Amino acid sequence: MENKVLLVTGGASGIGQATVMRLAGDGAHVVVADMQAESAAATVADVHAAGGSAEVCELDVTDHGAVAAAVHDIVAEHGRLDGAFNNAGIGGPTAKVVDIDPADWAQVLAVNLTGVFNCIQAEIAQMVKQDTGGSIVNTASIGGVVALPRATAYNAAKHGVVGITRTAALEYAPQNIRVNAVCPGFIDTPMLEAGAATTPERRDLIAAAVPMRRVAGPHEVADVVAWLLSDQSSYVTGTAMPVDGGWTAK
Ligand SMILES: NC(=O)c1ccc[n+]([C@@H]2O[C@H](COP(=O)([O-])OP(=O)(O)OC[C@H]3O[C@@H](n4cnc5c(N)ncnc54)[C@H](O)[C@@H]3O)[C@@H](O)[C@H]2O)c1
Repeated sequence: MENKVLLVTGGASGIGQATVMRLAGDGAHVVVADMQAESAAATVADVHAAGGSAEVCELDVTDHGAVAAAVHDIVAEHGRLDGAFNNAGIGGPTAKVVDIDPADWAQVLAVNLTGVFNCIQAEIAQMVKQDTGGSIVNTASIGGVVALPRATAYNAAKHGVVGITRTAALEYAPQNIRVNAVCPGFIDTPMLEAGAATTPERRDLIAAAVPMRRVAGPHEVADVVAWLLSDQSSYVTGTAMPVDGGWTAK
């Protein structure tokens, strides 16, 4: 990871933040892209305090032009982009399909699916230009492989992320640009607290339904992402890798 230039979206919180810390700890320069500029700055300060290298990029991944400009700026400053973790996401409405507000549907698709498309398009265009390969990891979910009831928009978007991942992996394998997805199960982050696990009782119910009988820490996803972004996974592309304590094996 030493001296690689990496972009992490949603890097201000949860899984993204843990991954920023891990990648910077491994020697990469990490661009922490997030809508929440203050929290992103706090993450960057943590990286610097730990002796690592990172910078803030205030970014809304739904803005196609802004994403392209962010990649352009990274290359103007650092000369290249070696890899990216397209991870920014939102939970969305908890409702059965007939009760979903179309505006909520559109918002979840805009962030969780089109956001990944915007990122991957700009990143791959740059990597093709560089002609030095690259590694991209997208955050899908167990909701990208199986259904979570009352989460139609989220499931649809995350299944779409797996589709983008596999398609881009096939299209750019000859250029040694690897594209993979991680499919986390229930991970201890602000999103889980605000969504599925609003009370300790609900959290216990979730944990009891996981084969490993617990939710995971965000660092347990970060470890997998770091491996996928590293040269140690050099022959791995097009995967949708569960990090779910066995959930999708059921
Ligand atoms: N926590 C879980 O249990 C879980 C499980 C499966 C998948 N995921 C996925 O993991 C990813 C990270 O989630 P998390 O749990 O760390 O959540 P989180 O809420 O802690 O972090 C999400 C980050 O994304 C940022 N973000 C949201 N919309 C954005 C936008 N339009 N542009 C830029 N940044 C934006 C937020 O500001 C936040 O910093 C998401 O894609 C989520 O769907 C989470």
